[in-house]
Amino acid sequence: LFKPGVIAVSLFLPQTRCPDTRLRRPRRHDWSRRLVAENVLTVNDLIWPLFVVEGNKVRQDIVSMPGVQRLSIDLLVEAARQAADLGIPAIAIFPSVDASLKTPDSREAINPGNLVCRAVAAVKKAVPALGVICDVALDPFNSDGHDGIVRDNYVVNDESVEILARMALVQAEAGCDIVAPSDMMDGRIAAIRASLEAAGLQNVQILSYAAKYASAFYGPFRDAVGSTGALKGDKKTYQMDPANSDEALREVAMDIAEGADMVMVKPGMPYLDIVRRVKESFKLPTLAYQVSGEYAMLKAAALNGWLDWDRVMLESLMGFKRAGADAVLTYCAPEAARLLNK
Ligand code: PBG
Repeated sequence: LFKPGVIAVSLFLPQTRCPDTRLRRPRRHDWSRRLVAENVLTVNDLIWPLFVVEGNKVRQDIVSMPGVQRLSIDLLVEAARQAADLGIPAIAIFPSVDASLKTPDSREAINPGNLVCRAVAAVKKAVPALGVICDVALDPFNSDGHDGIVRDNYVVNDESVEILARMALVQAEAGCDIVAPSDMMDGRIAAIRASLEAAGLQNVQILSYAAKYASAFYGPFRDAVGSTGALKGDKKTYQMDPANSDEALREVAMDIAEGADMVMVKPGMPYLDIVRRVKESFKLPTLAYQVSGEYAMLKAAALNGWLDWDRVMLESLMGFKRAGADAVLTYCAPEAARLLNK
């Protein structure tokens, strides 16, 4: 007991003093495991991302995301009702717009009658108590497939920020509760906050995709919103380098200073270290996005019979909670909610 090694270890783990410690003891029974669980995953932790298309009674499969579909507004409203019935607090709406509406100046993004705005208004009218989140980035409307305006093969910052602030405004005016800039331009949070304040929309929240990485895990999403073919080059001049971690803290600090209410880390599973650092450093609502490629990866393995879908889904979501996330955007939201509500 008094050997130097034992004492040194026991400074960190006092239990090692006791020779009868058996960490398996509390694991023996279900009631006991439940009693000592450090984290819980509930339906309140889930945000469901949904894709919307023009039309009526339209339901299009997304090949690289089995089980996920693009829905016309009428069916999106049904999905929103389902979300509310399951107790999911919020949905995030992403548009897949016709190629004819994609232009270099992305002007459709600031059309108050665009697909997203009509979708938001319809959902808020039918299910007012459900939180609605809109993505603020030009890619669904940009003929270059980029999140900002391209000039001379470069995504220009300040001009993009101007249109992004107007985009957030039309979404907020359509009734969305949270605007979520995912574009990674510098200074866009301040610009959006100012435009919301000026319009008297001071209660609209800003969820900043503060630490968003230039990731290959977005592939299936780009298929879903039809930006895969459109995208020229990559997004490395504005999204973060996967090699960086300190830089994520600078991004978050800047967005908080500019008026973000919550921040997001994206992708999710390969970036749980970032979730942990952000949560510990800033103690503000920290969300994570289990992105399309993460969903595709788990789903493909499950469909092959290589992974148990229900278990792997809930385990992956618990990982986010353990890392410190307050909520998770996940395409698994309705399936997870059904299991969690059992
Ligand atoms: C658009 C945007 C992307 C995602 C959310 N918003 C793709 C991108 O940055 O290219 C990805 C979400 C996912 O993969 O599920 N700015």
